[in-house]
Amino acid sequence: MLMETLFPKVSISLESPEIEPKTLFEPAVAEVWLEIGFGGGEHLSWQAQNNPQVGILGCEPFINGVAKLVSEIDTHGLKNVRIHADDARFLLEKLTPRSLARTFILYPDPWPKQDQKKRRFVNAETLALISAAMKTGAELRVASDIPDYVNWTLKHIDAHNALGKSQFVWKNNDLSECRERPADWPQTRYEQKALRENRVPAYLCFEHHS
Ligand SMILES: C[S@@+](CC[C@H](N)C(=O)[O-])C[C@H]1O[C@@H](n2cnc3c(N)ncnc32)[C@H](O)[C@@H]1O
Repeated sequence: MLMETLFPKVSISLESPEIEPKTLFEPAVAEVWLEIGFGGGEHLSWQAQNNPQVGILGCEPFINGVAKLVSEIDTHGLKNVRIHADDARFLLEKLTPRSLARTFILYPDPWPKQDQKKRRFVNAETLALISAAMKTGAELRVASDIPDYVNWTLKHIDAHNALGKSQFVWKNNDLSECRERPADWPQTRYEQKALRENRVPAYLCFEHHS
């Protein structure tokens, strides 16, 4: 029912050639954050409840996850959440340059096998899109419990930085500093499962400069 009544009101239309994300929110927001692949939306809902002055865009093609977040929006009366129920790349391509103050990619699908790695969300193309949409001084947060994905992310960030157009500066010196979950970074459902299965998350934070 909420998917028929509330979802259309919080869903982002991609009809315009460019989307200035602040214009999606009423009442007005001070800044806009983006969560890519929000799953069941636990983290996004927490951030929206705890940062009412921030507008949060969520991308998730998994429709059951979208329905869960819509239910959270209803339960908590959230005014500061908008949803793109599809591939994040379609939204990123349309966002006004330098319009995001924070981007989250939490536990992207691991695609562990060699022939699956090309499907990983973090890659040269998506980092270029994310970089174009992010302000200078904005923060990119990436979490993964798969050591190979953590190294993959750091390697792709280095390759992006080497192009010289913009930089994602890693806020830590090495991975040993990325094992504690920051206080303003609530657990996701996927993370709880990873911990139950004795996998160790890494919490990566980068400051963007363009
Ligand atoms: C392993 S799950 C993690 C979900 C959630 N972030 C969590 O930590 O519980 C990865 C999520 O990314 C979503 N996803 C995969 N490709 C995506 C894309 N291109 N754009 C947006 N979301 C995507 C999947 O549907 C899935 O829900």
